[in-house]
Amino acid sequence: MGTRDTDWDGVRLHVVTGKGGTGKTTVAGALALALASGGKRVLLMEVEGRQGIAQLFDVPPLPYEERRVAVAPATVTRPGGEVYALVADPESALVEYLEMFYNLRHAGTALTRLGVMDFATTIAPGLRDVLLTGKAAEAVRRRTGGKYRGGAADRVYDAVVMDAPPTGRISRFLNVSSEVSGLARVGPIRGHADTVQRVIRSPDTAVHFVTVLEEMPVQETLDGIAELTSLAGGVIQVGGIIINMNRPLPLPAEQIEAAAGGRLDEDELALGLKAAGLDDSRRLAAELAAELAGDAKSVLGQRLQRARLDEPGQPCYELPWIPDGMDLGGLYRLAAALRDQGAA
Ligand SMILES: Nc1ncnc2c1ncn2[C@@H]1O[C@H](COP(=O)(O)OP(=O)(O)OP(=O)(O)O)[C@@H](O)[C@H]1O
Ligand SMILES: [Mg+2]
Repeated sequence: MGTRDTDWDGVRLHVVTGKGGTGKTTVAGALALALASGGKRVLLMEVEGRQGIAQLFDVPPLPYEERRVAVAPATVTRPGGEVYALVADPESALVEYLEMFYNLRHAGTALTRLGVMDFATTIAPGLRDVLLTGKAAEAVRRRTGGKYRGGAADRVYDAVVMDAPPTGRISRFLNVSSEVSGLARVGPIRGHADTVQRVIRSPDTAVHFVTVLEEMPVQETLDGIAELTSLAGGVIQVGGIIINMNRPLPLPAEQIEAAAGGRLDEDELALGLKAAGLDDSRRLAAELAAELAGDAKSVLGQRLQRARLDEPGQPCYELPWIPDGMDLGGLYRLAAALRDQGAA
């Protein structure tokens, strides 16, 4: 199978964070599709139990079980790939972990009876996080036949994409070791945490930031990158910045500044409107000029925010605003844009 250079060739765990509502779930889905094209198999994982992925791919609510949700489009030279999805919750991850490593059959029912579930969810948030990141690490390392050693060929997934907690919580979420060290200094949970940490703090993992070109999300992105960079001596790899929901203003560049400064030629606008057969062209021209002035000002504001995003020196990718609501078609468009720009 032919390979192509992308910005994140060695990365197998893609963590997608960002300010709430900027499009984390959508971008994670698009990235999974993009990574899957060319006959790859990708797991898309949700960790906050909101069924955002099921909604995005228009499938029934997902259980704690890997299900195929989409087929990546084939190209002339390469076959299509597959996107699987999973909603990971800490209770199921704990049961699975115990079953896998201790051969505890039916651990689930016993543990539920013993009230271990409450332990996992309410008493120890650090443990909760390590169970979720642990599930991602497990999927990244998983081999066919249940073995965890061997060549690249027998990997179950070529990549795992995680729809992760928002920017404000991401550093803590990924800082597995220090969160768990207070809970377990030795023993199997400690060992599990160390394995997870090794995956997260290796070139196998990258943390991507989704934002829109507005002051607050951009600030959160810059703060989030700074925080992640300062964490544990910068061993967690910062990935790309994905600028979502871009809406270009259909106005020539030189007119944008004129419009923002209220210097659009209203006479010329009125003539144009009149030529188009519109009555009351003077009043319309004034209204249009005012509207364009508003839009143009926000374009200038967006340029300012765009420039700030260059500061950290990470690759930036721009995704278009999809009009009329997000659907599978829109998602494929975003996936294609990510591939065109070398993100996948
Ligand atoms: N490029 C886009 N064009 C148009 N609409 C978009 C785009 N990206 C996301 N959306 C829409 O914006 C809304 C928020 O997106 P999404 O749910 O992916 O954000 P999120 O960051 O995961 O939110 P939350 O913080 O609630 O998890 C959704 O309605 C989604 O369809
Ligand atoms: Mg979401």
